[in-house]
Amino acid sequence: MGLEVSDLRIRIGRRELVHGVTFDVPTGERLGIIGESGSGKTLTVLAVLGLLPEGATAEGSVRWNGRELLGLPDRDLALIRGKELGVVFQDPSSALNPIRTVGAQIGESLSIHYDLDRRELRQRVLAAAARVGLPDPEEIVRRYPHQLSGGQRQRVAIAMAVASGPRLLVADEPTTALDVTVQAGILRLFDDLVGTLGSSLVFVTHDIALLGAVTDHVVVMADGRIVESGRLDTVVDDPREAITAGLVEAARVAAWDGGPVA
Ligand SMILES: Nc1ncnc2c1ncn2[C@@H]1O[C@H](COP(=O)(O)OP(=O)(O)OP(=O)(O)O)[C@@H](O)[C@H]1O
Ligand SMILES: [Mg+2]
Repeated sequence: MGLEVSDLRIRIGRRELVHGVTFDVPTGERLGIIGESGSGKTLTVLAVLGLLPEGATAEGSVRWNGRELLGLPDRDLALIRGKELGVVFQDPSSALNPIRTVGAQIGESLSIHYDLDRRELRQRVLAAAARVGLPDPEEIVRRYPHQLSGGQRQRVAIAMAVASGPRLLVADEPTTALDVTVQAGILRLFDDLVGTLGSSLVFVTHDIALLGAVTDHVVVMADGRIVESGRLDTVVDDPREAITAGLVEAARVAAWDGGPVA
């Protein structure tokens, strides 16, 4: 049970861009997907969510708690997505409406799932804002997205993604657009929320150094294939593929604090 992706192939026009990807995320587990730019990470998670762009097709199998999602009508998929799957993308602006207040948007996500009167809704919106670490919820929920920092906008997008209590949270490079100090806080928030919800997590990044904070297993993608997979610590300590070693090395160089290299 959980998420079972098997021999997933994704085509756009005549080009096959993902060539048979297989991985599982058992209930409550956390998987990182890493790989260089263009390796097929985003297409893979979009296919899982039923959000592939126009003209793209997916073959193979994506099972969610035993139910095949590939080929389901859009309406059924939207229902499952709304209730059971949450998603956070790199650019929080893509999830936010620029002309509605933060509070109205968090409230809308909650209203899709819960039947709340005005007072309850307001309480829940404030609680959700506080839960994702937004300062001064009473004040911040009255603001518009452009009146927030990038990190705060991403916290709002996360509040909306978890409003329904999803069983699987998918995050595609959710911290890439943020500076390093803000990144760490957002990673802690993911770890904390997924732990509290008891949900599964798929976390996509090109930076393997981030994964330690949020996942315990990893798959490495290159050119539309999974080239290596396993427990994160094993893969980092003893990468079998040159591409993985390169990603580990890149993370080490980025983390170098100016001291001697061991
Ligand atoms: N809408 C599209 N139309 C045509 N080709 C696409 C489209 N989306 C992605 N591709 C191609 O598919 C391949 C995989 O793209 P994908 O976005 O999944 O990579 P990625 O691993 O997420 O990269 P990044 O780390 O840069 O986000 C790339 O070669 C990309 O150019
Ligand atoms: Mg991507």
